[in-house]
Amino acid sequence: MNITMIGTGYVGLVTGACLAEFGHRVICMDKDTDKIDRLLKGEIPIYEPGLDTLVAKNVEDGHLKFSSDLADCVPEAQAVFIAVGTPSSRRGDGYADLSYIYAAAKDIAVHLSDYTVVVDKSTVPVGTARQVKRIIKESNPSADFDVASNPEFLREGAAINDFMRPDRVVVGTDSEKARGVMKEVYDPLFLLSTPFVFTGLESAELIKYAANAFLAMKISFINEMSTLCEEVGADVVDLAKGIGLDGRIGAKFLHPGPGYGGSCFPKDTLALLRIAQENGVTARSVEAAVEINSAQKARMVKKIRDALGGSEAGKTIAALGLAFKPETDDLRESPPLSILPPLAEKGAKIRAHDPQGMREAKEMYPDWTYVNNAYEACEGADVVVLFTEWNQYRALNLAEIKEKMNGAVFVDLRNVYSPKQIQDAGFKYYGLGRM
Ligand code: UDX
Repeated sequence: MNITMIGTGYVGLVTGACLAEFGHRVICMDKDTDKIDRLLKGEIPIYEPGLDTLVAKNVEDGHLKFSSDLADCVPEAQAVFIAVGTPSSRRGDGYADLSYIYAAAKDIAVHLSDYTVVVDKSTVPVGTARQVKRIIKESNPSADFDVASNPEFLREGAAINDFMRPDRVVVGTDSEKARGVMKEVYDPLFLLSTPFVFTGLESAELIKYAANAFLAMKISFINEMSTLCEEVGADVVDLAKGIGLDGRIGAKFLHPGPGYGGSCFPKDTLALLRIAQENGVTARSVEAAVEINSAQKARMVKKIRDALGGSEAGKTIAALGLAFKPETDDLRESPPLSILPPLAEKGAKIRAHDPQGMREAKEMYPDWTYVNNAYEACEGADVVVLFTEWNQYRALNLAEIKEKMNGAVFVDLRNVYSPKQIQDAGFKYYGLGRM
């Protein structure tokens, strides 16, 4: 099939490259000509393991092209995916900013020729697909098209795997014809007996938010349990194992941390609250998850302050990890960037390392010191804080770390190490839900 992907960000580029890998002829389009120029030169603007190789292979095979001109891409396409950003609106009130979606719909409309399915891949509020349909009809009354909602469930750092081996494919549409086209788009997965959920437009749109909100709730739950474990002397790792072996709960997403971050959970939970409010119902479980997440980050500031004996003034903090999770360079809503600034404002000196995230952090926090590895970060530090569980931090030479430090305090915000490992190396140990 001929497929057009509008938007070459994290979702659009991964989805376009993977659909090309399926054998479709894909054109990834972006209005940002600089981005397209870089892609045409083989530069990948985001860090996603394996994406550079996948893009290069499919460009080489002629299955994947890039363009900044819709007239190039839409007329021949059987499916046009809208994968543009839906950031939280600048009002900061949880609304998703749909201006890019609606602009893309308008731009597509005039170039539609034969029957085409216009697919919302971006995470959009319930009802957006119908709005897209209305906009296209108004812009081109004679257009022969249907709309579909096809939310993505890609995790940063594992996006290609998540696309190629999804737990399920969700397709919302009212049209049998569009359903047929979407089956053809995902034919290789169909042949692998991947579960498909064919449903209505609104259900598909809400499935995306509900999935992310539930995962965020699960994380906030285990973060709260870790606080309780600290008070009662229980071990949250054992607690997570003990409840996670229940098939109804599941072991995944039960790792306490400094709070969830990224471009999805924070944005999508707020958007879901907004959707509930606009429809006159509450989503108190999601409200709680959001509140707990904010409180968790604030609790981490206090934990680090306590680890420094009650005051961070004049102390040096070695920060291991700035990205919101490993295997990404994404700093959006990253907890370290909410936790470190209040400490720096009170006089802490920050020595930071992250395998992928430092370039952007240097622009945001130029007065922090950025170093080449974990050991350099610990030079003269009073405390070392493990924020992001990069593989590079999972087997540190603790004796060497201690020898470089001024102090002997280790705050493990991802429970990478056991309390015993840290204590045996001569550190005072602070973890999450462990003593
Ligand atoms: C998430 C969803 O997993 C994915 O399905 C959706 O399409 C996009 O949003 P992503 O945001 O890339 O993916 O990362 P994810 O791996 O889900 O982690 C989100 C945040 O939760 C990270 O900050 C991570 O550190 C945190 N997390 C995750 C925990 O604190 N504990 C866990 O057990 C799991």
